[in-house]
Amino acid sequence: AAYWALIPAAGVGRRMNADRPKQFLTLGRRTVLAHTLSIFLRHPRIRGVVLVLGSGIDPDALDLPEAGGRLFQVTGGAERADSVHNGLAFLAQRADADDWVLVHDAARPCLPAADLDRLLQALSSDPVGGLLAAPSTDTLKLSDAAGRVERTLDRSRVWRALTPQMFRLGVLREALAAAAAAGVAVTDEASAVELLGRQPRLIEGSPVNIKITRPEDLEIAHLYLSRQDR
Ligand code: C5P
Repeated sequence: AAYWALIPAAGVGRRMNADRPKQFLTLGRRTVLAHTLSIFLRHPRIRGVVLVLGSGIDPDALDLPEAGGRLFQVTGGAERADSVHNGLAFLAQRADADDWVLVHDAARPCLPAADLDRLLQALSSDPVGGLLAAPSTDTLKLSDAAGRVERTLDRSRVWRALTPQMFRLGVLREALAAAAAAGVAVTDEASAVELLGRQPRLIEGSPVNIKITRPEDLEIAHLYLSRQDR
């Protein structure tokens, strides 16, 4: 089975308060998106990268890395799941249902290459697939409607879902279609697969793999990237 990357980059990034979506902001010498794409384009086992862009975006105006014909562009949708759906529909025309798809947020430019390697290694013969995740260092509280603690989660079992999230193309398409049909708004791919009754595997990833969301995250990402020497 081949490996494909799917990068949803069609969000508007409202929490960033910037003049453009966060994936197009500059981080060091390049855009956030260019850093993210390079991680996958450099990896020898990734056959192709599907980039999902917002409908008004001109790809020629973006600082996209040299891809040697391995980068494909698709138009996204209103929600992240719609954007992923469009990317999967495109892939279905050129990939097998058994091929692996790694969905990775455009806004996570600090994914360490070693984490990507570990994910591929750990899941290559897995029947379901899984995701990078980081153990929670904070104690997590579940709230009730009035903003009071309903209960405290067992921290030793709580993980933060990161990306990439890696599933077989056929399974992921089925999962997202089922979630949409049930009217469930999923915020990651694993949740959709869980709705099918499957249990994605958690592969421990580094907490430096942050999702740029708020203005201060850019500075933190800059520091992490400079340490990775990119
Ligand atoms: O908004 P959030 O931080 O969850 O977005 C995660 C990723 O999904 C970002 O890379 C964003 O560009 C992408 N996205 C998308 N289409 C949307 C919303 C978000 O591709 N409609």
